[in-house]
Amino acid sequence: MSPAIDIIILAAGKGTRMRSQLPKVLHTLGGCSFLSRVVNTARQISQQNLHIVVGHGADHIKQAFSEDNSPLVFIEQQQQLGTGHAVQQVLPYLQQNSISLILYGDVPLISANTLKALVQQAIDTDQQHSLALLTLDRDDPSGYGRIIRDTTGAVKAIVEQKDADLDQQKITEINTGIMAISSQYLQTCLPKLNNNNAQNEYLLTDIVAMAASEAIPITTAQPDHDWEVEGINNRWQQTELERIYQWQQAKSLCLAGVSLADPQRFDCRGNIHCGQDVFIDVNCVIEGDVSIGNHVHIGPNCLLKNVTLGDYCRIEAHSILEDSTLSERCNVGPFARLRPGTALAAGAKVGNFVETKKAFIGKGSKINHLSYIGDAHLGASVNVGAGTITCNYDGVNKHQTTIGDKVFVGSNSSLVAPLTLADNATVGAGSTITKNVEKNTLALSRSPQKTLTDWARPQKKDTP
Ligand code: UD1
Ligand code: CA
Repeated sequence: MSPAIDIIILAAGKGTRMRSQLPKVLHTLGGCSFLSRVVNTARQISQQNLHIVVGHGADHIKQAFSEDNSPLVFIEQQQQLGTGHAVQQVLPYLQQNSISLILYGDVPLISANTLKALVQQAIDTDQQHSLALLTLDRDDPSGYGRIIRDTTGAVKAIVEQKDADLDQQKITEINTGIMAISSQYLQTCLPKLNNNNAQNEYLLTDIVAMAASEAIPITTAQPDHDWEVEGINNRWQQTELERIYQWQQAKSLCLAGVSLADPQRFDCRGNIHCGQDVFIDVNCVIEGDVSIGNHVHIGPNCLLKNVTLGDYCRIEAHSILEDSTLSERCNVGPFARLRPGTALAAGAKVGNFVETKKAFIGKGSKINHLSYIGDAHLGASVNVGAGTITCNYDGVNKHQTTIGDKVFVGSNSSLVAPLTLADNATVGAGSTITKNVEKNTLALSRSPQKTLTDWARPQKKDTP
């Protein structure tokens, strides 16, 4: 039977270099906070026994996770006396005979695969105590703790940058900080740490030399990708890692059959799933959960947030779609805004400068230009003329407009809700409609046209 796992996420540091009022781990990458990313990945390793060490901005961080339904244990580290001291706060909560996996709240892209391999390595070592370190060879190791090995290659210690001598500084194998270690050993070694070092901190890394001297087996593993272990200390590193992340997403989309006009001008801050032969032009932003069918075309500069697009839809340039569902062969934009609660049936068209909200647009219906359609249900084959507006709000309450099949609404009409236009009704252009319109009838409310014959255009006066 594999041992239980305890996960420890360190997130108590101040993050001074972010120069922000927001705690560092609540800053986002790909639309999700650093800490949520680590928590979500950790959950793939273990659903329970997730301990988060918090200090700076602790209340804010707890608040951010208050609606999270699976259990997280927040443990406060009152003073930030070092990574060893941080892990020490968790000791009373650890299970007996478990493996502790130590993660960092500011290393957001660590993958579950890498962690599973690391934990497995600690388990496979098959000793009462074991320690598996995640390390990486870096061209530029400066700033990181270095892995010290003896002539046989066995790990002897980790030396922090600030404590490293010139020879040690040349070592390129660095400590990522992430490790899997038997909890029982943590219980015995952490209380023995001291702060006799350049930073006057209780360094978690010092347990490595302790373990080596006690003949505890120490193994190392490497991440699947170098970028997984990048930590974020300032906003420049944040943007660098954001670009790496977006590049990876663009790459996996392309390999799954999507054409991106430019992978450097594509941002997914949520989850996207696409069918085949989808084209996405430059500068599109994806948020929330987006699902796209086959043969869909997305023009440049579109924002798609929580939308579902059926096969053969075309979204033209500069359109914004939010919480909306489109059936197949719909056309939207350019310059359209679909607000939450919009649903388009097959073949519906929403053209330029049209705004919709809580609106169902029936099969093949068209709202081609300059309209506002809100709190409305439109049947099939309706034509809404340019400049038509559903007057859904009386200043206090919202009201519904119901439009039957094959209704024709002339341009520049105001439809004052609550209102029903029955099947096949026609509204004359320029009308303000306040009463229901019966089937097959014409409703017209514009003032009659006058012709004045004894009228002359004003003339420009002579200036003195
Ligand atoms: C640490 C490692 C270093 C490694 C590097 C990788 C130690 C001593 N050093 O250095 O070997 O190369 O990570 O990025 O572990 N934290 C607390 N409480 C504290 C101190 C820190 O919760 O008292 C948290 C921080 O919020 C952060 C993490 O621990 O999430 C790492 O701390 P940090 O000070 O950034 O360590 P590094 O100097 O980067
Ligand atoms: Ca750090």
